[in-house]
Amino acid sequence: MNVIGNLPDLRLGISGCVACPLHEGRTNAVPGDGPADAEVVFIGEAPGFYEDKQARPFVGQAGKFLDELLESVGWTREQVFVTNVVKCRPPNNRDPLPVELDTCESNWLKLELRLVDPKIVVTLGRFSLERLLPDERIGRARGKTLGWGDYTVFPIYHPAAALHQPQLRNVIKEDFQKLPGVLRSIRAPGSSSDNLDQAAELPSQSDEPEPQQLNLF
Ligand code: URA
Repeated sequence: MNVIGNLPDLRLGISGCVACPLHEGRTNAVPGDGPADAEVVFIGEAPGFYEDKQARPFVGQAGKFLDELLESVGWTREQVFVTNVVKCRPPNNRDPLPVELDTCESNWLKLELRLVDPKIVVTLGRFSLERLLPDERIGRARGKTLGWGDYTVFPIYHPAAALHQPQLRNVIKEDFQKLPGVLRSIRAPGSSSDNLDQAAELPSQSDEPEPQQLNLF
């Protein structure tokens, strides 16, 4: 049984993890980053070159675009929790293998989500989406509100996709603009202590569409 009960201990556990062969090639494992009371968790795929060096998720080019997206809705990195399904960089940034995804999800990702207990889980790209919701596909699920257990899941394309396919940049930006409205719609009525309140009140988000699909189970 896993007895880790807080994020600092979880970081230590991830940093020393040797549960799959990816640990042999890493400089650092990359735990999720952000406050324990974050309302929104972003889940990418796996660390890349810079993340492996700095032991922080999304610090390279894709991370810069993620920061831009956050800023576009009035949010900051300090307010949200950012992580990956896989915590160690796969060799040459190859796709993570099913065994690596399974091991890291069951050892670490589930625990991260339990400890942070966010209101929204934003999956970045197909790996994190298909981990949580194996029957979904990113092309049709992106920009929609889905359910996974008690969590609301909001899939978007991976920010790195826009680096290779510039036409996706606006699609990602448009999907991202829906997030404050989604957050508002799932908050308990009357709650006022939420750390992203200010951004959710921005006038530009006043015409947010309702969630398009709610599929809680
Ligand atoms: N891509 C990811 O999926 N995660 C990172 O941390 C960086 C790039």
